[in-house]
Amino acid sequence: RDADGRRVFDLTMQRGRTDLGRPDPTPTWGVNGSYLGPTLRANRGEDVLVNVTNELGEDSTLHWHGMHLPPEMDGGPHQTVANGATWSPTWRVDQPAATLWYHPHPHGRTAEHVYRGVSGLFLVDDPAAAALALPKKYGVDDVPLIVQDKKFDGSELDESDAPFRNQGILGDQVLVNGTPGPYLDVTTERVRLRLLNGSNARIFNFHFADDRPYLLVGSDGGLLPEPVEVRSLELSPGERAEIVVDFEPGETTVLRSAPLDSSEDRAAGADDRFDILEVRAAGRLTASPPVPRRLAPAPDLGGEEVVTTRRFTLSGSSINGDDMDPERIDVVSEVDTTERWIVTNDNGYPHNFHIHDVQFQVETVDGDDPPPAYQGWQDTVLLPDRAEVALLVRFSDYTDPDTPYMYHCHLLRHEDQGMMGQFVVV
Ligand code: C2O
Ligand code: CU
Ligand code: CU
Repeated sequence: RDADGRRVFDLTMQRGRTDLGRPDPTPTWGVNGSYLGPTLRANRGEDVLVNVTNELGEDSTLHWHGMHLPPEMDGGPHQTVANGATWSPTWRVDQPAATLWYHPHPHGRTAEHVYRGVSGLFLVDDPAAAALALPKKYGVDDVPLIVQDKKFDGSELDESDAPFRNQGILGDQVLVNGTPGPYLDVTTERVRLRLLNGSNARIFNFHFADDRPYLLVGSDGGLLPEPVEVRSLELSPGERAEIVVDFEPGETTVLRSAPLDSSEDRAAGADDRFDILEVRAAGRLTASPPVPRRLAPAPDLGGEEVVTTRRFTLSGSSINGDDMDPERIDVVSEVDTTERWIVTNDNGYPHNFHIHDVQFQVETVDGDDPPPAYQGWQDTVLLPDRAEVALLVRFSDYTDPDTPYMYHCHLLRHEDQGMMGQFVVV
């Protein structure tokens, strides 16, 4: 902590080499190390200060994905951290407990910076969530899993795209927290897994090899209103989920990714299967309390008067026919009013849609009530081939007519190609 009582984090984006199971160490990028970065953690109500030093050898940025904060602190394309410089954003954390993350956002180069390894988790805690009987011993029964697919050329990361592929890089190998072929030793009856799809383009469809049910307890913006039993869960790039899984003493299973339910586009990886993580339960397991039936207040924007409805059509690599222009403001939103954002995927392959600064409520998916996975707050939503979602969005606290936030497809190649727009809150 500094003299003002702020929680201080020092992060250095740097280059290195990492053992990723190849013949030689792989040239990679990371934060305070050679691949990925530390998990940051702060309480609701706390002031934080992050010193971000860039030693990458080229300009970048560091964005706090899912965080509610002023636009100058956001780490988007307008907050360049020049090579050799230090940028020190500060803000008050004020949102429900959630699994957020950070990653670079330099315009046109986000895909390569994230792919090389610059990202990490940012966990928000709050007293209400801390009081719940959910697994919460970090690294023991509360385990973060940053899931990323990679392609290699020998020992190097392969950044080339296959021809005719719209999505950007799809790998044929999965890393979890930067580890190839990972396993997890379980010592408790229940384990919370915090899943981040930290890939560039890959959509995962998480299920267990024995098809066991598990409880979905959290989404992008924090805990769901109540746990939902599922057997599979799709997460598109940038999305997070928290699940709680039961284990029997001595058993072994594998967390896998199955072919997608939402898409048939083979070029988008819809047919691919991966083993993600082997889970090995000890012969004796420490007892875990049952998962509470009520977790958090449900999103409540449905009862608000909608003052503005906006439409966003994702097509090719643009939104409403326009590529991102850093000089153009696409949307001006009024603070503390509720808007409906209707987002349509006009293509026969998947996109997704992410809005900075805010957690939104998914009102409908193709005109129906949202699926269980989208009954909490989201900052990123999957848009399957030709889908349409309606989002209820309400910006609060921070107004600035001059500094925009971003909305964009989080398939990083699309984002870099300009499938992104800018909004200000006034
Ligand atoms: Cu996770 Cu604008 O990004
Ligand atoms: Cu973001
Ligand atoms: Cu896209």
